Amino acid sequence: MTGSDAVSPGIDTSRPHPARVYDWWLGGKDNYPVDEELARKILAADPTVLRGARANRRFMQRAVRTVAEAGTRQFLDIGTGIPTEPNLHQVAQGVAPEAKVVYADNDPIVLRHAEALLRGTPEGATEYVHADVRDIDTLLRRAGEVLDLREPVALSLVALTHYLDDDPDGDDVYGLLRAYVAALAPGSHLILSQVTADLNPQAVGKAAEHFRRGGTPFHPRSLTEFSRFFDGLELLGPGVIPVHGWRPEPEDVAAQAEGIVPVYAGVARKP
Ligand SMILES: C[S@@+](CC[C@H](N)C(=O)[O-])C[C@H]1O[C@@H](n2cnc3c(N)ncnc32)[C@H](O)[C@@H]1O
Repeated sequence: MTGSDAVSPGIDTSRPHPARVYDWWLGGKDNYPVDEELARKILAADPTVLRGARANRRFMQRAVRTVAEAGTRQFLDIGTGIPTEPNLHQVAQGVAPEAKVVYADNDPIVLRHAEALLRGTPEGATEYVHADVRDIDTLLRRAGEVLDLREPVALSLVALTHYLDDDPDGDDVYGLLRAYVAALAPGSHLILSQVTADLNPQAVGKAAEHFRRGGTPFHPRSLTEFSRFFDGLELLGPGVIPVHGWRPEPEDVAAQAEGIVPVYAGVARKP
């Protein structure tokens, strides 16, 4: 979007936005000079971010395929990001054309591109909700217009929780996830990934500082902290693990050989 593209109303190009920074790392065009500047600073601090973004995206695809193959037909993806093929509905509907997918994000640029997320199969359904993950009532109400929340749903927050704090008077990310899971039927799944400082603390610490200076709070989590998100749920094998290692395919094994990336991932089932 660098260049002569008109800027849509509501899109703030004076400060970087996470969706657009991530888009730059993934090689997308939906970012502005402020985003590129921050993306490059973070890349200089942590040279693994490009591989990390790609590995994270591939985890989403493997996780969605896994739960779709296990019979899940309803998906709620919060913090969707700017469309990057294959998108979640393409993976889910590739397994089961009748799968229903609700996407949500709070960034106006994702809303602007939502049309690309809504081209699903005729048998299935896709919907986009412009909402903040913290507005659980709105999100579940809107999701419930498309999904039957009495039946299992795969809820995914992929590379989102590191933007939320733990403070019970703030974002209360643990309370928030508990509330979402409580609203889902038994047999539902939770699909999560997030950045950790466990693996290369200096680089991730610097990257987090760049995010904060750019106006985006950033909260890497340890293995124990990330694992807490799955309390009370049944983790699917291999459990909580650096993202390349979650049920890797040959391409992921090859990518991991280039070095580990500081992102944890896990998928769990609500009993
Ligand atoms: C790093 S991107 C991840 C995109 C996608 N889930 C993936 O993993 O490829 C994080 C996304 O979360 C969104 N996000 C951040 N804070 C959010 C919030 N409070 N509510 C909803 N979405 C949020 C951002 O706008 C961005 O699109």
